[in-house]
Amino acid sequence: MKLVFATNNPHKLEEIREILGKERQVLSLKAIGCHDEIPEEQDTLEGNALQKAHYIKDKYGFDCFADDTGLEIAALNGRPGVYSARYAGEGKSPEDNMVKVLKEMQGVADRSARFRTVIALLLGDEEFIFEGEVEGEMLTEKHGDEGFGYDPIFRPVGYEKSFAEMSMDEKNHISHRGKAVQKLVEFLNNKNI
Ligand code: IMP
Repeated sequence: MKLVFATNNPHKLEEIREILGKERQVLSLKAIGCHDEIPEEQDTLEGNALQKAHYIKDKYGFDCFADDTGLEIAALNGRPGVYSARYAGEGKSPEDNMVKVLKEMQGVADRSARFRTVIALLLGDEEFIFEGEVEGEMLTEKHGDEGFGYDPIFRPVGYEKSFAEMSMDEKNHISHRGKAVQKLVEFLNNKNI
């Protein structure tokens, strides 16, 4: 079974390969010769996941899946949400995004937030959607240097450490993307794919 994962993020590819296991081969965009900047122009996570997956399916013909994730902070009315990757502006770094969030959250009592992932899977002519989320809270400063993105400033409910202080395995067990991928795996297993 070969599936393309429509992402240019090596961290995500590594995370997902670990969850999907050995029996399924997850191909990177590089492996299929795709070096394009895949458009994600929708204003929902689901819309972006579908747009990315369709781009690959239409251009290269592979069965594939794509994910889109957002950090939804209650006190910021769900921001950065679908704009998480470029919250501090086009071309800014994950560090810049964290600085912006920490600044906006200064002195804010309600720290509750969640990560939400939507995966769109295209198999033949069919499309399927899987979702995963993890509730947590925004920290007031960075902790740890594992992971990526907003990991150093997000602590999942029931834990004393941030995502960036967890091993990849530990994070995968409880994370938004881990849960969404788990649903994808169960679906593939049930279909004997
Ligand atoms: P994407 O569209 O799925 O790549 O995610 C959008 C942005 O959300 C990324 O650029 C990261 O800043 C952030 N993000 C996604 N997944 C994670 C995660 O597991 N931890 C921390 N930040 C994440």
